[in-house]
Amino acid sequence: MTRFDPSGPLSGRLRPPSDKSISHRAALIAAMGEGGTMIEGYLDAADTRSTLNAVEEVGARVEGDNTAISDQLRVHGVGLRGAESAEIDVGNAGTLLRLLPGWLAGQVGEGWTLDGDESIRRRPVDRIAAPLREMGARLTAREDRLPPLEIEGAPLHGITYEMPIASAQVKSCLLFAGLLAEGETRVVEPLPSRDHTERMLTAAGASIDREGDTVVVGPAERLEPEPITVPADISSAAFFVVAALLVEGSEVVLEEVGVNPTRIGLLTILERMGAEVEVENEREVGGEPIATLHVRSAPLQATEVGGAEIPLAIDELPLVALAACFAEGTTVIRDAEELRRKESDRIETVTAALRALGGKVEPTADGMAIEGTGGLRGGTIDSHGDHRIAMLGAVAGLASREGVEVQGMDAAAVSYPGFGADLGSLLGG
Ligand code: S3P
Repeated sequence: MTRFDPSGPLSGRLRPPSDKSISHRAALIAAMGEGGTMIEGYLDAADTRSTLNAVEEVGARVEGDNTAISDQLRVHGVGLRGAESAEIDVGNAGTLLRLLPGWLAGQVGEGWTLDGDESIRRRPVDRIAAPLREMGARLTAREDRLPPLEIEGAPLHGITYEMPIASAQVKSCLLFAGLLAEGETRVVEPLPSRDHTERMLTAAGASIDREGDTVVVGPAERLEPEPITVPADISSAAFFVVAALLVEGSEVVLEEVGVNPTRIGLLTILERMGAEVEVENEREVGGEPIATLHVRSAPLQATEVGGAEIPLAIDELPLVALAACFAEGTTVIRDAEELRRKESDRIETVTAALRALGGKVEPTADGMAIEGTGGLRGGTIDSHGDHRIAMLGAVAGLASREGVEVQGMDAAAVSYPGFGADLGSLLGG
């Protein structure tokens, strides 16, 4: 159990850890290259360590000590068609589970098994298996939809795929598969989702075009990745953004944060709720926009969140629910059924956590309604092994009246091993 007591204001500045989504993609795309690719600021966390291990399993070489990921990492790739057969442990990393098969499926003569922890075994893979099979891939999954996932390399051909859900993981998987397929692959998105893969593949020389809601990828002989610089993760920064908003008198500055338009849904939502978040010094580094976020505490009003905003804030919706407990009025989150398929069923785990702390939350099939009650009492919550629920508990504790005990705080290491230390530094300790 880790205890988070009501705190005084948060103040100070820090650079949150590097972006998890971009780090996964950097390691995978570097592994598809032929020479060495420099990755600056690779995230040192459990999930992205799983990706480094995975690329090593298929034959890429990671230069440097992989037990203490240095700020500068060089990945020597195996080439687009050079992955060796392997059994791969993806750990807790859903992004690795969904992206890697896209690269492997088209490599004839080799075979792979992907499996992971207890939570990963509940994460669906049919969302990638179905379109990959349409492209000619040979895949088998437990009950046809869950890991372990077995892949036998097969020749692929391009398809047009209308994604039933807005998922950057599915989109990225199919873009990777399209590199090795015959003809063009077209992926139609119901709503825009994060576009880091498109940016990084374009920089590596792949033919990627956007036509309205469709991303078109052409086959590639080889990739030549550029050196990659990973910005700080807005999804990790989000915990301090919300902590600073909720704890009166706070003022926090977060540096080098990725502000890709497909990732900043939380900022738009919070602004609508009355938050003061200034986005300063915006510039582009390594093909991604970054900025400094300057946050001050502010009273909040309820809002409605749904539609196109959902994919842009998908991992931050638990924090929207937390902020809503402190806002005036009832906040409604809808169109977010995907929350049920994350590291935990986040409609259930967020509802349970906030109720345990005195919040008034009603879960729905595709979201929740949260009645603002002027704050939270406090109590004990269970992270259910979900990193974002653990860190949500910590933030709730600081802003609560009586403090919060978090069971399973160690889950934070999946994306943010230094969370406790960084939080301590903003609390002046
Ligand atoms: C991710 C995409 C999102 C997000 C996940 C990371 C990615 O999932 O929830 O944490 O890196 O592509 P979906 O694309 O499945 O919605």
